[in-house]
Amino acid sequence: MPSISNRITRLAATAVTLLPVSGIAQEDPAPTREALATMKVEALYASLCAQCHGKNLEGGMAPSFLDGEWKHGSTDAEIAQTILKGNIQFGMTPWEGILSDDQIRSMVIFIREKERVALNEGITFPKPEPGKVTKTDHESYLIETVIDEGKLEIPWAIAFLPDGSKLVTERAGRLRLIDAAGNLHPDPIKGTPEVMQLGQGGLLEVATHPDYSSNGWIYLGFADGWKEGVDSRGRPKMKALTAVVRGRIKDHTWVDQEWIWKGDKKFYTDAGPHFGTRFVFDQGFLYFIVGERGGNMEAQDLGNPKGKIFRVHDDGRIPTDNPTFAGAKTTPLPGLWSAGHRNPQGMDIDPRDSAIYSTEHGPRGGDELNRILPGHNYGWPVITYGMNYDGTPMTSKTHEEGMDQPLTYWVPSIATCGLDFYTGDKFPNWKNDLLVGALKNQEIRRLRIVDGKVTEQEVIMKDLGRVRDVADGPDGSIYVLLNGPDSIVRIVPVTK
Ligand code: HEC
Repeated sequence: MPSISNRITRLAATAVTLLPVSGIAQEDPAPTREALATMKVEALYASLCAQCHGKNLEGGMAPSFLDGEWKHGSTDAEIAQTILKGNIQFGMTPWEGILSDDQIRSMVIFIREKERVALNEGITFPKPEPGKVTKTDHESYLIETVIDEGKLEIPWAIAFLPDGSKLVTERAGRLRLIDAAGNLHPDPIKGTPEVMQLGQGGLLEVATHPDYSSNGWIYLGFADGWKEGVDSRGRPKMKALTAVVRGRIKDHTWVDQEWIWKGDKKFYTDAGPHFGTRFVFDQGFLYFIVGERGGNMEAQDLGNPKGKIFRVHDDGRIPTDNPTFAGAKTTPLPGLWSAGHRNPQGMDIDPRDSAIYSTEHGPRGGDELNRILPGHNYGWPVITYGMNYDGTPMTSKTHEEGMDQPLTYWVPSIATCGLDFYTGDKFPNWKNDLLVGALKNQEIRRLRIVDGKVTEQEVIMKDLGRVRDVADGPDGSIYVLLNGPDSIVRIVPVTK
């Protein structure tokens, strides 16, 4: 049996015979098996594929990957199959036995990322400008500033009060009030819970109880925890986990606080990422998200709160009819509703059928939109459409029995964040459409959902900043919380 590295050399030699005189392969010796196993996808592409398919995937002696045309089929599975089996009579090397299934999957994601960017080139996305009408497929709008940059620090969520005022969380731990006239109160609400500013954590979600007018309850989702010693640079070390409280505001002060949900101390961690959060109220229940906190497989452990969506009564009591999770190995934690999540940072309820939808930050190429069903497992990290951010593979698995598929996913990742069903009357042609905010792509996408399926997708706003949250206000306009620049704008109809 020839060793793997021999095979690579042999295959590289085959490639060279097909190359024009000075192929790159002749200068760079083929990488060894050990080197290949740990290489990131960019490096794998550069040393194994670029010589034929072009340094930038633009094609050369082999086809381009950027033109949207696929001779051997355009699905991920077909592309993976060509990479695996090759097409030796046409000069395409089979990579079976050289690249692992996981690496081939990461190669497909990499090709898809570049293809999407290339296909988007030349398309102009609607970037609104003050005073100018922005046109989209079904509606035109104007953009207005609500809170100018420089006044808020990482605004994270917004809630609307019946008197026309608004509450806004700042991740650093401040709850701010914008009065009905649109003025930002200079002082944060006093006495809100202490939050851990650990990584992506801080003060995150805010929402009012559906019967706020009569009961005054306001709910906060945040990184709860404690400080514990200092790190090598003298900064406090922290342990944190997502938690939920409710309280009321009297005289600009947080009062009557009650704990709604808090995890066992043993689950608190010093990891920085993935707090999740976001609330949905429905029929006396509160749904909320606890991100997987970088715990990966912990998202699959039903005895662990990380990477889960919970459903509790609005006062925190555990419902008696929560799902039992078919085939669970561990007793599900009280309150568990769904499992296998990474970092969902968007959640809303379909006003037509009360189905709950959530956007989830996946790994690179794995951002998802999910329809959240009781007792279902959404697969992280066993299945995903993504790979690690550094270009090393996660898994080749995108499907698994007993794990739900996303309704849609985004390659490249757009960094999906706040999510909102448009329920207002100011944009009738967007009624009940789902608005998806994106941090990295700095955009809002409008998705039409018909019978639980995505039938349309359109970018309706682009390049004003990283979109942290989208929320339709009681006035029918759409409020957008931007990070970098930190500000709030709103999308309003064009009135003549
Ligand atoms: C020796 C040159 C060569 C190398 C090296 C090579 N390819 Fe190819 N590849 C080809 C040729 C030629 C074709 C077109 C085959 C055909 O027409 O059927 C092709 C086709 C493909 C296709 C199918 C395209 C389509 O339109 O359906 C994919 C996918 C692909 N290659 C991926 C890769 C990847 C990934 C690598 C590196 C791991 C790679 N190739 C390395 C020559 C090469």
